[in-house]
Amino acid sequence: MADTTKREIDAVTGAPLHPHEWDGIRELEIPPPRWWVLTYLACVVFALGWWVFYPAWPFIGGYTKGLLGYSTRAELADTMAAVKAAQGPMNSRLASLDYAAIRGQPDLMAFAVAGGRALFGENCAQCHGAGAQGQVGFPNLLDDDWLWGGSYGTLQTTIEHGIRSTVDADTRQSAMPAFGKDGFLTRGQIADLAQYVLALSGRAGDVAAAGRGAPLFAEQCVACHGVGGTGNRALGAPNLADDIWFYGGDATAVTAQIWSPRHGVMPAWSGRLDALAIKKLTLYVHSLGGGE
Ligand code: HEC
Ligand code: HEC
Repeated sequence: MADTTKREIDAVTGAPLHPHEWDGIRELEIPPPRWWVLTYLACVVFALGWWVFYPAWPFIGGYTKGLLGYSTRAELADTMAAVKAAQGPMNSRLASLDYAAIRGQPDLMAFAVAGGRALFGENCAQCHGAGAQGQVGFPNLLDDDWLWGGSYGTLQTTIEHGIRSTVDADTRQSAMPAFGKDGFLTRGQIADLAQYVLALSGRAGDVAAAGRGAPLFAEQCVACHGVGGTGNRALGAPNLADDIWFYGGDATAVTAQIWSPRHGVMPAWSGRLDALAIKKLTLYVHSLGGGE
């Protein structure tokens, strides 16, 4: 400690003055208040305790774990396990019952649909939209306009095995021929067919062309799309007469599809999600409005 008896004393405050002088400015030498020093020391003690008990110091290959062994990951795992245990009875009821029986139990149904909604947000929304409203090339699942069918059984099959999946042998398959690209029809014939297809929904611009398209449609397209273009679910061939469009309802989009079809791919989920998750998703999609 400096000897304050030799220090100059400030006349105004009576406090000792620091011996140095900077450009004529002098400083008082007053120790920090006791409460401040005590708080500071308490913080030091607390920090030392933290280092000992909790994870603290990072190293290249890890970190100090602390005596209490606390970790936010372990805490999350515990919470997840607790949630799983709490859902256990509901999940086993869900697993043991068939769709008709589940429907008869409102509490179980609500539980399954809530679970399905969460799973949908994680796995399906990027293609089908957050509200399952779909987008160009990805079908709307809210309506009753189904490509492959909207019963519990067909929905479950679609979700399990996907559509044109390259990894699932039981996937749904069908391929509209590339009438233009592969040279089955001329550009003129395809333009006529496009007008005929639009006429099925009352959209044709060119009635004469639509008339020329009719016999071509009967020849080339009814095998899959049906007489009058009403579709065929066994082949996933869309209804062309309902003015609901998968790829777009104007001459450009329809011509593009006839020229070279997209062959939309829906992944198979049986390898990624368990049977219970697929059941919840089936119940959720079915509950959206178009379920049959
Ligand atoms: C990578 C994009 C993609 C993802 C992810 C996806 N789908 Fe699909 N889904 C499609 C496409 C594309 C189709 C239409 C395929 C076709 O028939 O041309 C489809 C069709 C469907 C159909 C059939 C609709 C009908 O009209 O018959 C159902 C049901 C369905 N998806 C449910 C789901 C569910 C549930 C999930 C999440 C587990 C999911 N999809 C995830 C792309 C996707
Ligand atoms: C082998 C069966 C098959 C044949 C034959 C076929 N289609 Fe298709 N068509 C499909 C399937 C399956 C889809 C859904 C396609 C996809 O994802 O590419 C489809 C989709 C379409 C679409 C898109 C509908 C929408 O909502 O966007 C149009 C338009 C269409 N077909 C027109 C035709 C016309 C015109 C012909 C005859 C020249 C024809 N198709 C012949 C199976 C067929």
